[in-house]
Amino acid sequence: MRAAEFQSIVVLTGAGISAESGVPTFRGPDGLWEGHRVEDVATPQAFRRDPVLVQAFYDARRAALARVAPNAAHAALARLDAQWPGDLLVVTQNVDDLHERAGARRMVHMHGELKSALCLACGERQTAPDTLSDGPACIRCEARRLRPDIVWFGEMPYHMDRIETALAACDLFVSIGTSGAVYPAAGFVQGARHAGARTLEINLDRSEGTHFFDEARHGRAGELVPLWVDALLKR
Ligand code: APR
Repeated sequence: MRAAEFQSIVVLTGAGISAESGVPTFRGPDGLWEGHRVEDVATPQAFRRDPVLVQAFYDARRAALARVAPNAAHAALARLDAQWPGDLLVVTQNVDDLHERAGARRMVHMHGELKSALCLACGERQTAPDTLSDGPACIRCEARRLRPDIVWFGEMPYHMDRIETALAACDLFVSIGTSGAVYPAAGFVQGARHAGARTLEINLDRSEGTHFFDEARHGRAGELVPLWVDALLKR
């Protein structure tokens, strides 16, 4: 894969890219959904039913962010972002801030961010304080109705217009560290193929969507992503 072949790249990332930083994945062994039922912590119904449990779940994940750091795969994508002369959009399903901490800028969080909170009273999006469990006040309306700014199951992902525009225009689509279990992200490869893009999967093992990709490289993102980026930038 050489830079000259491509102009417009979309990279989709999932929990697997943060695994080597110590952030648990969702569906792997010891994954988040091993210890918690999605229905208890990741739906609007769960939040209405038991806000204390849900706030505590995300407070713990937010606190854990302070104990982890970006890895070589995040750093490689930040390098691509800094040096790629064409179009690039990194679409992450992750709610951690490791892409930004590595220096990525041309990116969107389609499932929200742990470090952001949303006011249910006035809709204001704001930096989340360390804990939402003690009911902090909204910076705009002062109501104490902040929820984690996370896209829960059954809710619309963020930035879909920008993502679909980038998919329709891309000539290279790369998926890194995702199981392909959750839509609409799992369908992006078909959108990119439809646009005539070349498609590459980088994942620890086969995902539910491997058969949709032109090429699949299986192994750890921390090793494979720097190799792919360096080859693309022809170092
Ligand atoms: N390098 C590359 N891939 C890895 C690594 C690694 N070091 N470790 C794990 N993986 C792969 C796993 O093999 C798996 O295919 O990453 C994938 C992680 O899959 P999931 O845990 O299902 O996470 P993800 O695909 O991001 O989940 C999608 O589901 O739960 C919801 O909203 C949540 O954004 C999340 C969405």
